[in-house]
Amino acid sequence: MDTAERYRAFAREEVAGHSPVYEKLAADIAADPGLIALIDGLPPVKRQPNLLLAAARFLGGPVEDSGAFRDWAAAHWTGLAGTILARSTQTNEIGRCASLLPLLAALPQPLALIEVGASAGLCLYPDRYGYRYDDRPPIGAGAGPLVLTCRTNGEVPVPERLPRVVWRAGIDLNPLDVREEATLRWLECLVWPGQDDRLARLRGAALAAVADPPHLVRGDMNDVIREVVAQAPPDATPVVYHSAVMPYLDEEARDRFVATMRDLPARWISNEGSPRLPSVRARLTRPLPEGRLAFLLALDEEPVATAGPHGEWLDWLGG
Ligand SMILES: C[S@@+](CC[C@H](N)C(=O)[O-])C[C@H]1O[C@@H](n2cnc3c(N)ncnc32)[C@H](O)[C@@H]1O
Repeated sequence: MDTAERYRAFAREEVAGHSPVYEKLAADIAADPGLIALIDGLPPVKRQPNLLLAAARFLGGPVEDSGAFRDWAAAHWTGLAGTILARSTQTNEIGRCASLLPLLAALPQPLALIEVGASAGLCLYPDRYGYRYDDRPPIGAGAGPLVLTCRTNGEVPVPERLPRVVWRAGIDLNPLDVREEATLRWLECLVWPGQDDRLARLRGAALAAVADPPHLVRGDMNDVIREVVAQAPPDATPVVYHSAVMPYLDEEARDRFVATMRDLPARWISNEGSPRLPSVRARLTRPLPEGRLAFLLALDEEPVATAGPHGEWLDWLGG
């Protein structure tokens, strides 16, 4: 996919219906050969729309007006490219805990959680947030933005109580520390404009993490997963999980991770874009609905649900 099509696809498939500002700007960037030429001067992995747009906002660039954006980006390209090269898309979306919760709560308790690709580690606290699935009674003690809402379809095994977590650790190539002001601001810039609910829950979760920082291990998940799982207490169920991480791995690294997970004495929850783990997708017994951006949620490679990319909905596959 060329860069212009990548920006068109981002507008059409990712932000449409969620962020009108980004939808318009990404479509206008796609139609601007001058901007596309600048972006094509970046390494391929750095041409992502969300990275460019977050970097522009981080530097105070205008995103609400495409003409002003074009002029600003051209005039500030060196600084903008520097931020793009120095940072990466590490969106930490606690809404995804609403997708994970039914599986976590159904496992033998207590749990030892190991999240790979944990970013700032805010999804390491599924037991810290509150949940409301449809109009059912709320679960957990979260308050305000820390109550995660989720629309469901099918026989979602909505739990009555939170899982009991006795140990947790995150792994990331570049763990983020939300106690650093610039880091938190970067995470905020990764939330699309207009998504005030996502921004509020990021800030709420970050505030809790400042008071009680997560244990984050720096490293490539393929290099450190075995030693981190080995540190989990023996009387807890070790659960390795990940959301929105597989796009960062090439095929060889992904296959190595899959082989390791099959071998490790741990349960494995994956919550990834549906084509990202072919072994999970191959076990689907019916095709996924077309035209809806969905994650595929699986336990030990068995697909159980499709999920909104930010945990906003959960469709149980069942039957
Ligand atoms: C889009 S973020 C998702 C963060 C978190 N899972 C969530 O759902 O909020 C992906 C994270 O994976 C990390 N990552 C990418 N490749 C990795 C690897 N090989 N080993 C460890 N972490 C990796 C990135 O640094 C980034 O923080």
